[in-house]
Amino acid sequence: MSIDKKFLNLFIKVTEKAAIGASKFIGKKDKIGADKGAVDPMRRELNKINMEGTVVIGEGEMDEAPMLYIGEKLGTLKGPKFDIAVDPLEGTKFTANGESNAFSVLAISEEGGLLSAPDTYMEKIVIGTNLPDNLMDIDNGVKKNIKLLAEAKGKKISDIKACVLKRPRHDNIVKELTKLNVRINYITDGDIAGALSVIGDKPKNDIYYSTGGGPEGVIVAAALSCYGGQIQGRLVLDDEEKIRAKKMGIKDFNRKYNISDMVKGDVIFCATGVTSGDLASGVKDLGNEFEVNTFALHKSNNIIKSVKNIYNK
Ligand code: FBP
Repeated sequence: MSIDKKFLNLFIKVTEKAAIGASKFIGKKDKIGADKGAVDPMRRELNKINMEGTVVIGEGEMDEAPMLYIGEKLGTLKGPKFDIAVDPLEGTKFTANGESNAFSVLAISEEGGLLSAPDTYMEKIVIGTNLPDNLMDIDNGVKKNIKLLAEAKGKKISDIKACVLKRPRHDNIVKELTKLNVRINYITDGDIAGALSVIGDKPKNDIYYSTGGGPEGVIVAAALSCYGGQIQGRLVLDDEEKIRAKKMGIKDFNRKYNISDMVKGDVIFCATGVTSGDLASGVKDLGNEFEVNTFALHKSNNIIKSVKNIYNK
């Protein structure tokens, strides 16, 4: 089974409307307003679609409006059953500060196709296409992984570019990478774009190596399942989070997840720029209209495209 191609444009419209909603808060120093600005239209648009959608990756685990919470049912409830992973506004800080790389994103699979993970951290290693399967392993440590990657890519270690989310928790990773003379490209937030910077014709980075949000990890896996590339992730759970994870069916708390453990079957992925970034240009206010740009993927139809649309205000 696959997702009917008519759904691609419907889901593109969802992230477009969410991005327009968030764009009204660009540079306004209001992270909560910006998030709500994206969540409300995203929910409204999803509820118009003839589907039985369930949020499996969301911004919270209970009915904590205005968030799109895990377990929330969406759509007209007439139509196919889908799992939905949402990040209505990836880069709330970027939006509030008027910085680049904020976007609205979602991933859709058929029912049961996406890992339902709690809203916790995930250790992640992401690499690009045309590399041996399962090349990276979190338990290898930085040195071995970088050596394996350099060998597989036929590059000198000093030519490897690693993207790292700038956080004190990554001091050890940075220390190891520095010792190896790897070139580090830091990001201050937004690890979906960071992780996806290893794919494309001329990838900016060879590897993404950091701990970021678990939901973002599943969304990245969804995109890579359409595009190629590899991710390995492991949830980082404290005692309270283990209880939440258990309720969601996670038994092995130390499990390392590869793409096929996080994403099964057909997938649609859409990311619409709020501010301009690596995946898509931001919302442009043209006076009476908004111009929006979306990076869209549909696995079963081999669709990888950038779409521009115009909406009347
Ligand atoms: P939001 O825009 O949803 O706040 O997420 C931004 C982000 O940078 C994610 O891309 C990343 O996974 C996570 O926050 C990292 O969390 P933290 O800021 O707690 O290190």
